[in-house]
Amino acid sequence: MKTYFSTFITGAQEIIKEFLEKRGCKVKLLLDGLVVFESNRPANEIRRFLIFNNTFILLRSFSNFKPNIKSLERILVIISHSKDLLSKIANNLPSGRRNFKIICSLENRMVSVRRSLLKALEAIILKIYGMRLNIKNPDLEFWFLLRREGYGFFGIRITYQSRKEKYRERGELRKEIAYIMSLISDPSPEDIVIDPFAGYGSIPLERAKNFSYKEIIAVDKDKNLVSRLKEKVKTFKRKITIIWGDALALDETPDFYVTKIISDPPWGEYKKIPNLEKFYEAMLREFNRILKPNGIIVLLIGAKEIFEKVLQAKFSRVLLLKRKYDILVSGKKAAIYCLVKNIL
Ligand SMILES: C[S@@+](CC[C@H](N)C(=O)[O-])C[C@H]1O[C@@H](n2cnc3c(N)ncnc32)[C@H](O)[C@@H]1O
Repeated sequence: MKTYFSTFITGAQEIIKEFLEKRGCKVKLLLDGLVVFESNRPANEIRRFLIFNNTFILLRSFSNFKPNIKSLERILVIISHSKDLLSKIANNLPSGRRNFKIICSLENRMVSVRRSLLKALEAIILKIYGMRLNIKNPDLEFWFLLRREGYGFFGIRITYQSRKEKYRERGELRKEIAYIMSLISDPSPEDIVIDPFAGYGSIPLERAKNFSYKEIIAVDKDKNLVSRLKEKVKTFKRKITIIWGDALALDETPDFYVTKIISDPPWGEYKKIPNLEKFYEAMLREFNRILKPNGIIVLLIGAKEIFEKVLQAKFSRVLLLKRKYDILVSGKKAAIYCLVKNIL
């Protein structure tokens, strides 16, 4: 049994707990945005849990530390003096990765600690055969994290992203959120899924990559984004239909055609929408038209109050609110809504 810790989007605790328990993992500590869990699965499998931002093998944890630099430095000293440090690291090293760097994080922000402390620890780690210090281009990262709640963690990061994977366009949804939204929609191989505000395609791509389906349709009103998405899916093995169209008038989609709608509609911030209330009303009316009875809608919404007002006033009998998850997206308050189409 190995112990891991993972970071995830603020507000998703409930989803994370359910996800881990379903996969036979034992949750040891659940904070807002971080989970510690035990599992028999190898690190190679755990690192493919795409629900997380990052995952680490836990080497040591701490509690009741004040969240400041001094405490973080104290943790570094404790780790440097621990007798089993080298064997613990050596036993948990991912294969083929030896160019290391030490990273310190305080309350979710990378911070610098005293150079002498880092140097002492680096010197110890360098005793392990084949280890090389590589600050600029490491393939192995040792992390010290000290959280607001006073918990500290020392671990080896096992999730790696290439520069291309890390890159996101402005407004493009993070993959982990697209993955979580797909998961909330209760994916089935029989699904006909539509994302009527597909943008760069984060949701349809994650849905297609990670779960089976019958059909996926991606729509956007921006011609340029639609051509870019068409280019992107050319190298993709599974089929996604991409349509240049209006989410408020999905003329190519028949009534009661789709089983799932998963989408991230405009927030009305970046490009102003003159009347967001009317926009949401037209959007939900069209969604209700194309959705099969018992079909599911999963939406990421920034303007929560306006959305809830429209939902309650106009759709409370047809689109039932099953769950709402308040989350933070790039520091902004938002919510993921899960609605189910009622059979009247
Ligand atoms: C918040 S972004 C979606 C971002 C997307 N999830 C991604 O990862 O790139 C909203 C998208 O809705 C599109 N949009 C706005 N109004 C639309 C409409 N009436 N019909 C279809 N797409 C629309 C915009 O062009 C934009 O790409």
